[in-house]
Amino acid sequence: MVRALVCVCALSFCVAAMAAEGDLRARGEKLFADQKCGACHTIAGKGNPDGPLDNVGSKLSAADIRAWLIETKRMARSTNATFRRHRENNMKEYTNLPKEDIDALVAYLSSLKRK
Ligand code: HEC
Repeated sequence: MVRALVCVCALSFCVAAMAAEGDLRARGEKLFADQKCGACHTIAGKGNPDGPLDNVGSKLSAADIRAWLIETKRMARSTNATFRRHRENNMKEYTNLPKEDIDALVAYLSSLKRK
């Protein structure tokens, strides 16, 4: 009986955690549109094809994605950014966004993996 109860609790905790993760991703997807990231990036064929992010979740760790959003200049310097050459307009640092928004964007972008 106790074991069954523990099981049910663990399960509902899991489901809640998964739902929260999904919410965060959905919020990130909305932020991506609201912040006009699509002016320079494309996801699923929408936006600027010069900056595809469809596979960014496989390419970069969550920590690196976060760094791209708030320490953009450092990342652009320290990596071989593939499309820097084609752009005058470098990405700005989104340090004006609250941490929760950055968390949501990171969760969303981390989920983008080409199948
Ligand atoms: C004005 C154009 C522009 C906008 C707007 C922009 N970016 Fe970028 N982004 C770039 C460029 C250019 C790079 C490559 C770094 C460089 O060359 O400076 C980049 C790099 C990235 C990378 C790393 C990609 C990789 O494959 O290594 C991520 C992740 C990213 N941007 C996410 C975002 C998100 C999320 C937003 C919106 C909040 C955004 N960008 C808005 C131009 C932009």
